[in-house]
Amino acid sequence: MASFTSTICTGATSFSSRLCIPPAALLHFWRRRHTFSSYRPAPLKLSHFLGASKISLPTVKPKFIGWRSVCTRADGRSDQICEAEQVQRSHAAGGTVGKFQKRLRIADIKAGPAQGLERVGQCLSVRGWVRTCRVQRSITFIEVNDGSCLSNLQCVTASDVEGFDKVHSGLITTGTSVLIDGVLVASEGSKQKIELKATKLVLVARVRNALAYATHKYFQDMGFVWVASPIITGSDCEGAGQQFCVTTLLPFSQEDVGSPVSKIPSTKDGSIDWSKDFFGKPTFLTVSGQLNGETYASALCDVYTFGPTFRAENSNTSRHLAEFWMIEPELAFANLNDDMACATAYLQYVLRYILDNCKEDMEFFNTWIEKGIIARLNNVVEKEFVQLTYTDAVELLLKAKKQFQFPVKWGCDLQSEHERYITEEAFLGSPVIITDYPKDIKAFYMRQNADGKTVAAMDVLVPKVGELIGGSQREERLELLESRMEELGLDKETYWWYLDLRRYGSVPHAGFGLGFERLVQFATGMDNIRDVIPFPRTPGSAEF
Ligand code: 4AD
Ligand code: MG
Repeated sequence: MASFTSTICTGATSFSSRLCIPPAALLHFWRRRHTFSSYRPAPLKLSHFLGASKISLPTVKPKFIGWRSVCTRADGRSDQICEAEQVQRSHAAGGTVGKFQKRLRIADIKAGPAQGLERVGQCLSVRGWVRTCRVQRSITFIEVNDGSCLSNLQCVTASDVEGFDKVHSGLITTGTSVLIDGVLVASEGSKQKIELKATKLVLVARVRNALAYATHKYFQDMGFVWVASPIITGSDCEGAGQQFCVTTLLPFSQEDVGSPVSKIPSTKDGSIDWSKDFFGKPTFLTVSGQLNGETYASALCDVYTFGPTFRAENSNTSRHLAEFWMIEPELAFANLNDDMACATAYLQYVLRYILDNCKEDMEFFNTWIEKGIIARLNNVVEKEFVQLTYTDAVELLLKAKKQFQFPVKWGCDLQSEHERYITEEAFLGSPVIITDYPKDIKAFYMRQNADGKTVAAMDVLVPKVGELIGGSQREERLELLESRMEELGLDKETYWWYLDLRRYGSVPHAGFGLGFERLVQFATGMDNIRDVIPFPRTPGSAEF
């Protein structure tokens, strides 16, 4: 295998290109995705957003190695690239794999107060994708972006380049991947035009990545242990029956999809014979890692899970996915107050992190997606969250001079319109924590309050999104938990291990779950949750 080096070069300058996935393919995904939903953002242009670039990379007698048009292989890679890799591999055979190094990216080149001017004179090699290619009489400007930052690097090449006719014949277009070597020089710079739609997805991916990093950093710095909760489970954590079944009784490969129903094993009484299934019992994709998190919290005190969760709810809304990621901290020796304090501190930390570390991207969202989002997030980071009980929230809704689609009365589940009214209108954009919900609308594991009617639950509501976090103190008293499970008709046998946590060494504990895509939505101002996850799964759509 060839070694990766950070691309300082000395030899002749060369050009090569091949067909790759992002960002041209992201644009393609975006188009495909929005064929399936009615959501269509305005086709904005970025032409007035980007400032003049301070540096540029002129190429010195570049030599073209390959073009995307030569891409004929099934795997979408050019023969020349594959040949080049083959040669590199054969050179490496019998030798060492080389040192793995961080690659120099456009963001690194432009980093620092002088925006890259301090590197003027250096020979660099840049890999990325063409955003624009402007051919002029004697010179061609190619704007290259490698996904490391919002702005491009302008590469300038003269017409005496070997294979320059390919530029004229239009083979260098938006999305072509290129490798360009050259010397960095100071330039006058120029403004560029970029398709916003493709760019937006790239930016969201970067902010999403930063939020994931900040999540791990926060919990790790606070001494939490990350636990990998299982994706396949036999229990329904939320008890809402919204699970996808995992089975090998049904056809389990593309070839078998046409097999007859009579092939499914059944018992004498005609029901499905689950003993013949892979795990010998019905199993499902998890809706939450919480119950597993509780087992580890009982030994390690503070833990968190961060993984994919699945819900088969038929909700075609801008805030529901069938597959989404959830962060679920679980704190031993903690009550509902500790839980709310942890949720607040964590949320403020990750938002502060992106405000400090994704400045360029956040400016973009502030300008093009949601005006004022930076000020709004700063507000969330600095102010205390409002807190009120469910009972007070219902009273507030009943007094509201607003016609809701879903009528409000004590005991009802709060709908998105109610949650958004509370956080957006009643408390003017501040996050609101609602506590002490009626036990009948919450899950079986929540700790019962002394009033016999409510549980020690909390939901954090934020503008645009509504419920961002759902959490509770857990019922640690065995008898009360068992009687609640009986009331709800849950099979205690299935939960024997969960009940054992109460039988042996039970302690007060609490936790919460934050929907990661809703966090990305909240942090970027994106309207539709489908646009903040690379490959959204929603009712009727599992493309790519
Ligand atoms: O409120 P939920 O259902 O809580 C739980 O699953 C608990 N077991 C969490 C815990 O205490 N450890 O879900 C938690 C969060 C919601 O607040 C919401 O942000 C997100 O998960 N969520 C969804 N996000 C996208 N699509 C869906 N269909 C979602 N359902 C819930
Ligand atoms: Mg909830």
